[in-house]
Amino acid sequence: MARLVTEWVKVTSDISIIAHESGEVWFHTPSGTKEAIDPFATPMTGAGAAGSTVGLLDGAINLGFAGIEKRIARPDPTLVGYTVALVGAYHTSVDTPRNLHRAARRFEELGRPEVVAYLEERAREETGHDRLALKDLRALGLPAERLVSNFIPEGIKPLCKRFDDLCVQDYPIGCIGYSYCLERIAALKQKTDVEEVQALCPDGVDATRFLRSHSSLGSEASHVEETIAFVASLPANDRIKVVQETYESALIMAEGYNHELLKSKAEMLEELRQVVGEALPYRLSSCASHGEKRGARPAA
Ligand SMILES: [Fe+2]
Ligand SMILES: [Fe+2]
Repeated sequence: MARLVTEWVKVTSDISIIAHESGEVWFHTPSGTKEAIDPFATPMTGAGAAGSTVGLLDGAINLGFAGIEKRIARPDPTLVGYTVALVGAYHTSVDTPRNLHRAARRFEELGRPEVVAYLEERAREETGHDRLALKDLRALGLPAERLVSNFIPEGIKPLCKRFDDLCVQDYPIGCIGYSYCLERIAALKQKTDVEEVQALCPDGVDATRFLRSHSSLGSEASHVEETIAFVASLPANDRIKVVQETYESALIMAEGYNHELLKSKAEMLEELRQVVGEALPYRLSSCASHGEKRGARPAA
């Protein structure tokens, strides 16, 4: 019987993620282990397998989000928070095809047709997702174009910058880790999450196009599956870089969530009011008066 695969990646100076093809994942701190007897002290070199690769990727996300409080990670949704999240969703989608094409061109130069094919396919699949967010904002009665051209939520900026930077690197394999992180988190959203947001929207308004397509109801779940299979097929050095970047992206995302989610509804409304420069639709403005609960649901 073939031996099950074990994969490992060092993601911080003292933490490695170890994943077994059977699904077991653990965090390994080498302190106290003599390097000579620590089998995980040197980078892995073997082939990957879907079962262990997904353990590394999801382990990296869990580790990156370990610092965020559960209460903050799953706050009660509010319409104003959802609006800010939609603006963030627009910004994290608008440059995705261009960035992925850019990374694909680099892999073409490097003679890696399989990576080119994967990135080109992803670029095609992600095309037009920014427009879903714009349609949702419009459906809420907002001047969508003005809103997104004048406003990037603070917590989203570092995330957008990270992706831009990754895609122009000499060896841009890390962009796959970034995309995995965002898509995996989106795919965790369930039908009930969509229904909760739908319930906040005015009757007859469909403002959940982006959310539906970036949830377990839409294409995100299959994107995640495809990425796991593709990453598992990569050489060990690439898998290491992808997992390390998944961790870095998760850290940036968690920090961004913390930043956005700690704002009160009134603060978020004021931010929107200033950008829009006119009275906000009644439904949005009125939601500030129902108590002063903090928090918005993370990116739509
Ligand atoms: Fe998307
Ligand atoms: Fe996607």
